[in-house]
Amino acid sequence: MSDHPLRLAVIVGSVRDGRIGPIVAGWFARVAAGRDDIQVDLIDLAEMPIGSASPTMSPPPEALAGLRELTPRLAAAGAYVVVTPEYNHSYPAALKNAIDWHDVQFHAKPVAFVSYGGISGGLRAVEHLRAVFTELHAVTTRDIVSFHHVWEQFDADGNPKDPQRPAAAAEALLDQVTWWARALHDARTTSPYRFATTTR
Ligand SMILES: Cc1cc2nc3c(=O)[nH]c(=O)nc-3n(C[C@H](O)[C@H](O)[C@H](O)COP(=O)(O)O)c2cc1C
Repeated sequence: MSDHPLRLAVIVGSVRDGRIGPIVAGWFARVAAGRDDIQVDLIDLAEMPIGSASPTMSPPPEALAGLRELTPRLAAAGAYVVVTPEYNHSYPAALKNAIDWHDVQFHAKPVAFVSYGGISGGLRAVEHLRAVFTELHAVTTRDIVSFHHVWEQFDADGNPKDPQRPAAAAEALLDQVTWWARALHDARTTSPYRFATTTR
């Protein structure tokens, strides 16, 4: 392990019963954890429910417990990989709600995507998420990892049946994420990122 591994939050964006999200995210987290420059924090939004209330200055009781766990873990990360399915050409409502409770945690940090779904492999969900993370002053990476017809892609052990291409795509994505994380960390250290969101 390198002296200063990147703390990478891998966020499981689907929370529904019967979801495949943890299988996709688990595979990706294992690939990332295999690198000596990355320390993975696997964040499953289903394990820290924050309800469906919208963000407020004082979070309601049903959101408090989940936010107490989620917020510090997001803040501690130097980069993020959001693992998202596609629901009706976009991403899950629970993921949006989790994002909306936060802001500065994402400022000037890289966000990458592992997407999955039916015929489009979740690509439309990713395009929507890019716009959201730009609003949060994050930098999204060009490359993504994508699984179309995801329910056909993984074996009983939770690994891709055809491992070569996804593994290569994951490594390429992680190379970009670590590059951006280093560059943005150095930039934040030299000159703190203090740009407020002024136009909404
Ligand atoms: C409400 C709903 C809407 C969906 N809409 C799409 C869609 O627009 N495009 C697509 O490719 N797949 C769509 N799917 C298929 C999902 O991407 C697929 O079932 C995936 O496994 C869902 O992720 P999850 O199992 O982790 O929740 C939809 C699934 C659900 C439940």
